[in-house]
Amino acid sequence: MPVEEFRRAGHQIVDWLAAYFAYPERFPVLSRSAPGDLIRALPPEPPDTGEPFSVIFEDFERLIVPGITHWNHPGFFAYFAITGSGPGVLAEMLAAGLNVQAMLWRTSPAATELEEVALGWLRQLLHLPADFEGVIYDTASVSVLHALATAREAAMPDVRTRGAFGRTDLRPVRVYMSAHTHSSAEKAVLLLGFGRDAIHKVPVDDTLAMRPDALAEAIAADRAAGFLPLAVVATIGTTSTTAVDPVKAIADVCEREGVWLHVDAAYAGVMAMLPAWRPLFEGCDRADSFVVNPHKWLFTPFDLSVLYCRRMPLLRQAFSLVPDYLQTTEAAPVKNLMDTGIQLGRRFRALKLWMLLRYFGAEGIRARLLHHVDLARRFAGWVDDAPRWERLAPVPFSVVCFRHVPEGMSDEQALERHNAAILDAVNASGEVFLSHTRLDGRYALRLAIGNLRTEERHVRRAWELLADAARTVTV
Ligand SMILES: Cc1ncc(COP(=O)(O)O)c(C=O)c1O
Repeated sequence: MPVEEFRRAGHQIVDWLAAYFAYPERFPVLSRSAPGDLIRALPPEPPDTGEPFSVIFEDFERLIVPGITHWNHPGFFAYFAITGSGPGVLAEMLAAGLNVQAMLWRTSPAATELEEVALGWLRQLLHLPADFEGVIYDTASVSVLHALATAREAAMPDVRTRGAFGRTDLRPVRVYMSAHTHSSAEKAVLLLGFGRDAIHKVPVDDTLAMRPDALAEAIAADRAAGFLPLAVVATIGTTSTTAVDPVKAIADVCEREGVWLHVDAAYAGVMAMLPAWRPLFEGCDRADSFVVNPHKWLFTPFDLSVLYCRRMPLLRQAFSLVPDYLQTTEAAPVKNLMDTGIQLGRRFRALKLWMLLRYFGAEGIRARLLHHVDLARRFAGWVDDAPRWERLAPVPFSVVCFRHVPEGMSDEQALERHNAAILDAVNASGEVFLSHTRLDGRYALRLAIGNLRTEERHVRRAWELLADAARTVTV
């Protein structure tokens, strides 16, 4: 692509994105595509000859955009709402342009060192102690996999050499979590070869938080039965309801038992920046590993997950393997990011984190997080005050779980059909997108706030649409 053509097309794309950010509501938030629409619209064969970028871009607008669900829409309230913020998007453009592959310090010293600096800043903002070293991965799923692999390295150092399969000298492992722990922890257990039977689901209390007394009992019983208690995954901000496991009490148990403690704060970790929420994070300084996802609630374009680990040399011991062609010597000791995980090649993700931390500043971030919490509390208040609406969980952060209970309807299946119909109706509006969860067998609607462009009017509109749908849906 000649540079002049790149410049023209680049300006066109920046203009398109600026208009998109100025008014994302011109698109329905949830794509109205039917399965197979795009596949049918595109030729099955690749083009023989190159095409002008302008033609490709027209097809982007005509064919691709209708198949986009707009995570950057202020009416996006599903799952965990996120934002690809302006500074983050610009940083992504630069990172793509530079096309850095940061496997070794020398393959881009700035990428390696900026990761250290940005993660040092973030660590301070989260009030984690200095002995936590950070590393950037793509997702929290990959972060927990590395955390549990490191826990295995700690407990069974010879697994790296001898493997674990078919060994009778190794005790079967147990990993503790609750029914509300994200499925990625379970997947990590599967992938590490422990098998699903290794997962011990610890009971929760009535706020859906893990019970430390039950955890202690489970570990004691497992030990007595000959198992090796390997790790506990505690969550601050569970996926369904954003419940908070009591990390301090769990850390006491883990310390006493010599079990690895991984804290999953993928969504809510950023709230450690706010003094009023800090007590919820007590005990995190004693965790072995802690994950927070800036791509969830820190306005970072997808993807960027940070794993902080107090035992990073052990993680490197588990993962480092340096073939001859990657051996380097530098004038002083350096970090090579390829040693901190399974992947060799690494994107320059630190650039967007560094740029947006500078752009918003700690104060700016705190103010925006508080605004989201405030909006969620307002919505929860409307639910609480409305007859026939029921809130199904506490709101420690920015997610509200609730349902509509029509007069005379008490059968759970009927309630599920009714609330699922409400959800379909509001999502069909194109103005908002909510998702659902299930709590103790009860179907719950779920509204998550986390987009920078969400204002009170969007949340109010969601409430109006819900109320309209509750009146009109029939199942
Ligand atoms: C609490 C929690 N942990 C982990 C994850 C997995 O996140 P990722 O998509 O970064 O793997 C999620 C996803 O929503 C989550 O809610």
